[in-house]
Amino acid sequence: MRVLTRFMLSASDASHFPPPQFPEVAFLGRSNVGKSSVINSLLGQKVAKTSSTPGRTRSINFFEVRWPGKPAPELVFSDLPGYGYAKISKEISQEWPKFIEPYLRERPNLALCVALVDANVPTQESDRQMIAYLRETDRNYVVVATKTDKLSGNQLQRAVQNLREEYGEAKIVTFSAKSGKGREELWREIRASAEPADARE
Ligand code: GTP
Ligand code: MG
Repeated sequence: MRVLTRFMLSASDASHFPPPQFPEVAFLGRSNVGKSSVINSLLGQKVAKTSSTPGRTRSINFFEVRWPGKPAPELVFSDLPGYGYAKISKEISQEWPKFIEPYLRERPNLALCVALVDANVPTQESDRQMIAYLRETDRNYVVVATKTDKLSGNQLQRAVQNLREEYGEAKIVTFSAKSGKGREELWREIRASAEPADARE
């Protein structure tokens, strides 16, 4: 499936967010976990800036997603700033909750939160906190284990087992922006969250 996409705007406070017109899918996780890469992989285009320097994204970037032949956008993707990377100054890391938590709590059109965790590193306290927050606020979320191309089959199995133990009932998708693994599965989750009654292909 090929989608059309366009960068809409970048904003760090609610008064500048796009109107909550379309179901929105938020991508969140630690700095450098691969948020922008997952978005680009899903969209089949390099719309979200990726960087080997962690912490590049400092505001929420919104992208509209449209299916060919449809006149209006049907989804919005939001690329959130990363949290909890040691190399970012404490001050910036602590900035994170100021506009992200209200966004996660109050955004009325938020259909799905894609919570990214790096399959190559053990569970981080910041990941735990983020996922606990999604649970507390009753958000619909899916855990995506990123960069799985760096792991052998056995290592990946172990990583998934750890995530199951950690996050219990959560849906877990294993993903690689490099190989495309998990792309279709994540799209299914996204489509299901945005329009449960419509089995679009
Ligand atoms: P910030 O916006 O800085 O928080 O980072 P981000 O979470 O958006 O991560 P980004 O997509 O920019 O990727 C960070 C780095 O990880 C880049 O060097 C990517 O090339 C690399 N990367 C992302 N996804 C994958 C993947 O699936 N496999 C591998 N091997 N590397 C990846
Ligand atoms: Mg990014």
